[in-house]
Amino acid sequence: MQELTFNADRLLLFGATGDLSQRMLLPSLCALNADGLLDPELRIVATARSEMSTREFRQLAREALEKFLPENRRGPMADFLNRISYVAVDAMTPEGYDALADEVGEYNGLAIFLSTAPSLFEPTIAGLKRVGLTKGNARIALEKPLGTDLKSSCEINDAVAQAFSEDRIFRIDHYLGKETVQNLLALRFANIMLEPVWNSNYVEHVQITVAETVGLESRVAYYDDSGALRDMVQNHMLQLLALVAMEPPTSFDSTAVRDEKVKVLRALRPVEAKEVVTGQYRAGAIDGKAVPGYDEELGKESDTETYVALKAHVDNWRWRGVPFYLRHGKRMPERVTEIVVQFRCIPHSIFEGRGAKTEPNRLVIGIQPEENIRLTMMAKVPGLGNEGLRLRPVPLDIAMPDAFSDTVRRIAYERLLLDLIHGDQTLFVRRDEIEAQWDYIDHIRKIWAENDMKPKTYVAGTWGPSAAVALAERDGVTWHDD
Ligand code: BG6
Repeated sequence: MQELTFNADRLLLFGATGDLSQRMLLPSLCALNADGLLDPELRIVATARSEMSTREFRQLAREALEKFLPENRRGPMADFLNRISYVAVDAMTPEGYDALADEVGEYNGLAIFLSTAPSLFEPTIAGLKRVGLTKGNARIALEKPLGTDLKSSCEINDAVAQAFSEDRIFRIDHYLGKETVQNLLALRFANIMLEPVWNSNYVEHVQITVAETVGLESRVAYYDDSGALRDMVQNHMLQLLALVAMEPPTSFDSTAVRDEKVKVLRALRPVEAKEVVTGQYRAGAIDGKAVPGYDEELGKESDTETYVALKAHVDNWRWRGVPFYLRHGKRMPERVTEIVVQFRCIPHSIFEGRGAKTEPNRLVIGIQPEENIRLTMMAKVPGLGNEGLRLRPVPLDIAMPDAFSDTVRRIAYERLLLDLIHGDQTLFVRRDEIEAQWDYIDHIRKIWAENDMKPKTYVAGTWGPSAAVALAERDGVTWHDD
């Protein structure tokens, strides 16, 4: 067991009536409580602008839990709800913070979670500072979006740094809380077999796909300002890429792991215009159900991209000449997040004289919805076969739920909230990482502006614009499974 150097007995949750809190944070905390993973002393002080009593907030929280947390994960709900008190605070008004400080009271460790619009980060931190809640060992977690470009991200980081040192700042990328994403580290660094082939000598290319079937949902204003590149590629996809490409860290601690990730992010070569394709969905059908186009959902015309495909390069010894193809889109035919490592062809086939073809090995790491790892290997088709020797790729599957059938499928925020409460930063994004990510993304946006690039259209329920297929096909690569 790792020894805890920090153990919060107060969790201060800003934006407690908001969508993220209701859908993810409260359900995660309730599930942790049900599993006995929260310290009995932990009290949660929830805050938002709406005037309501603690009783009313607990009722709201109860409804959220009934809606968003499966019954078998709730445990004794009253026991969880009794941990919560509510204080209404207008983040822009300094006076409100006195009441908050009173409610927080004396504590040994304070964890603060800002699940609010980033425009409120600065005034909130100033308010917390005024009443002394940023002092000592207080930790702060920040939800995305952390800026809209490098400059605004630096401004947010500077403002937070006024009150919190970097070792007390927890920038959330919820993909890092996913069990399967952490498993990527186990796969790479707890096995000897992969490391020798995990480089440009053996890997031909890598594909990272994050496909969603949902469209705009209720996030009209945010999404239209953001777009797919900043909503998903800047954070989650670049983090996945960093985990795939990083060198082995010397230990599984926050400095070692993040040191290696940031090296990858800094080694990303600026993308060229011909290496990126954007798209926006038009009306179509998903699972046989008609869905509207982006403009219709938005209620106006827009140039915001809902799809991005790009070819990335990591300019270092290990990955020299190995393209990383990334694609993400809304309103795709299915929800799937996966990483495909495509190995090179064997250098010489002894079977060719017998007419048997070989295919290169491929490792597919399924992140969601299926959690599995599949390695395709060539094998002989059984039989005496007058037609000659035949070979065929066969999958070696590690299906996670079967292999670990006693584990439950957790919400990514469970891991992250627990780590925040215990002060473990390994799965949080360090300032230099997020700034390297923005630097890469800003360059892409600059290219779009310089070339006046507009998203190409694609029909909802398809795998994106044909130009994205061409992006890979030019290199003789086919996107996996479309
Ligand atoms: C969020 C994005 O960060 O991640 C959303 O803002 C996206 O647009 C979501 O839908 C996807 O998360 P997950 O865990 O469902 O893959």
